[in-house]
Amino acid sequence: MNSIIKEGKYFLKCICIFLPTIFIFSKNVSASSFTSPNKVLEIKFYLDEEGRPYYDFKAEGFEIIKKARLGINLFNQTNLDSGFVIDTILFGEVNQLWANVWGEERNVKDHHNSMTVVLRKNISGLNKLLHIEFRLYNDGLGFRYLFPKNGNHGFFIVTDELTEFIFNEDLECWWMPGDFDSNEYPYTKSKLSQINAITIGEETKLDFRHLINDSLIQTPTLLRNSHGAFMAIHEAALRHYPAMFLQIDRSKSKIQTRLVPNSLGHCAYLQDGDQTPWRVVLYSRQAKDLLTNRVILNLNDPSIIPNSDFIKPGKYIGIWWEMHIGKSSWNYWNSNKNEAVANHGANTKNVLRHIDFAAKHGFPYVLVEGWNKGWEEWYNVWKESIFSFTESYPDFDLKLISDYAKSKNVQLIMHHETSGAVTDYERKLDSSIAQMHQYDYPGIKGGYVGKIIPRGEHHDGQWMVDHYERLAYKMAQNNLTLNLHESVRPTGLHRTYPNWWTNEAARGNEFNAWSKGNPPEHETILPFTRLLGGPMDYTPGIFQIKMNHYGPNKKEQVHTTLAKQLALYVTMFSPLQMAADLIENYEKMPDPFQFIKAVPTDWDSTLILDAFPGDFIYMVRKAKNSEEWFLGAITDEEERILEFEPSFLIPNSKYNIIIYRDGDDAHWESNPMSYKIEKSTIRSKEKIKIRLAPGGGCAIHFAPVAQKRKGRIN
Ligand code: NOJ
Ligand code: CA
Repeated sequence: MNSIIKEGKYFLKCICIFLPTIFIFSKNVSASSFTSPNKVLEIKFYLDEEGRPYYDFKAEGFEIIKKARLGINLFNQTNLDSGFVIDTILFGEVNQLWANVWGEERNVKDHHNSMTVVLRKNISGLNKLLHIEFRLYNDGLGFRYLFPKNGNHGFFIVTDELTEFIFNEDLECWWMPGDFDSNEYPYTKSKLSQINAITIGEETKLDFRHLINDSLIQTPTLLRNSHGAFMAIHEAALRHYPAMFLQIDRSKSKIQTRLVPNSLGHCAYLQDGDQTPWRVVLYSRQAKDLLTNRVILNLNDPSIIPNSDFIKPGKYIGIWWEMHIGKSSWNYWNSNKNEAVANHGANTKNVLRHIDFAAKHGFPYVLVEGWNKGWEEWYNVWKESIFSFTESYPDFDLKLISDYAKSKNVQLIMHHETSGAVTDYERKLDSSIAQMHQYDYPGIKGGYVGKIIPRGEHHDGQWMVDHYERLAYKMAQNNLTLNLHESVRPTGLHRTYPNWWTNEAARGNEFNAWSKGNPPEHETILPFTRLLGGPMDYTPGIFQIKMNHYGPNKKEQVHTTLAKQLALYVTMFSPLQMAADLIENYEKMPDPFQFIKAVPTDWDSTLILDAFPGDFIYMVRKAKNSEEWFLGAITDEEERILEFEPSFLIPNSKYNIIIYRDGDDAHWESNPMSYKIEKSTIRSKEKIKIRLAPGGGCAIHFAPVAQKRKGRIN
């Protein structure tokens, strides 16, 4: 186990219902099976005559995965791939409820059965041990390799993982190309046999992207079989190991694990006592149930943070979109002319204006990008020391701004763009943290645009995975929060580090400002893929949809209606959410802005009314410690009718509702800013019927009449 974990103090907030663990020891067998608590899922583990390990996975009696290999290859040591006998098998059951620090529901149920197979092989008189631990939940499978303390491997280097997922048919797949340095791609849907990851990659290529081959994809990957059942392949608890990619054998529906290597071709440096992340296959009869699947969260360790009071979910505005649309700049100097630029965004006056706006409208946080020295050459991928993380530009009065923010009860989120120079960042971190304490900053938004230094490392390799965890741990020790962009995609580690509360790690709304953008279906796929691993800082809330508003030559646009931007606050979970548009646009459109002000970012419960990846998502969430509910409904490029009975409301109680919907003439392309706001009252048995425009959406705020709170609903 790596040192970070050893230092951590585990704090388990667990509301136990039933926690028996039954151990059964078996010997002299070469196969063993077990089922999920409801017996719907089944795993069979076995060895062939050469002592190679395999598994079969069945769901509802159907074979899903058949004769898939397990094992690990090592550098300069005998591979852990064959020659094994089963030493012992241990079975267990856990049934518990644990409390979220924040999340999509207050309490999370963890009910699973487990089977740990202890494998042994004798090499030169030494007994080498490998444990494979399987867990079956009612809605998914997790398994991992453990190298026990007495495993006799010492220190070793992983060059390859043999784990396979071999399906019995050519599945439908929602996939993204395999790039060890970026996950900012749109999704493509095709049969496994039709995946062509290079075509899609080249369309959207940026200079730092690096596509490996045309059949390598990255997780989370969503799959659907001919029975209509859904599966998602991902990993949980990615720590001290590289990310897992999937190499598709298009002719055989076979998926082979591929680990991110470093420039020496090594994937992971491990030692006895370590373990791999969990390999995960989620399973669901209906698409919508995947959106409340908590297997990945459950496979992660409990929080290491003894007192999490400093983690306060909320919304932020920022000096941000204005740079993305080209209205202002991050850099202060025009290096060509050797003079200050005319439009530096992070100037004192502009920051104070944002603090005033945040205070007036109840936003606890303001993000400021471009405050620190270094932006003039942030794209220099070869230079190691570019940014200062303590020195501000001359027109950003750090003390004045920080004191003013404090007087207004607003906190400034520090922006730490590393542009990939991570060793330099780690060297400068202590002084930056000291400054954050001095000015009472709550945490950072970090970024990793560009190539990684140490040179030859990848964003998704073991060195960087260790870096993200070192950072999360250090921030936790300092009561600071962390929102990372361009980091590896999340794997449920926010359970262990609730201060590392959100990530971008996918293609966010920013792409709509300066590229061909995100297709209207994009936000209906993300919750079925990327968000299975954890929250996303998607930065919703853009009201000024077409960028030609800022200049006649600007062709870009957000590929949604305005009402859909509101619905994203519900469908795209994050405990920290941005109101991403310019504050002048919110001042111009105060009515839809009321929804952004009202919608919380932390929930008691979540219910999916209906959903299908790539088509639509309709969901409701109950606000934490409140009887208020919020609905988010989004569609792809198709028009749809949303019709439902709000049976989640307390029966016979009357609720005020505010509906924020698409105007009758709204369309994401031709008329995206047409919206309608309707207020009325409703009870749980009364039907609601609303049209969603092509590329549109709808948001609804329900508040019990009796509990009406001043300022929230009129
Ligand atoms: C990319 C991030 O996603 C974006 O939010 C940020 O503004 C830029 N990098 C600059 O750091
Ligand atoms: Ca980004």
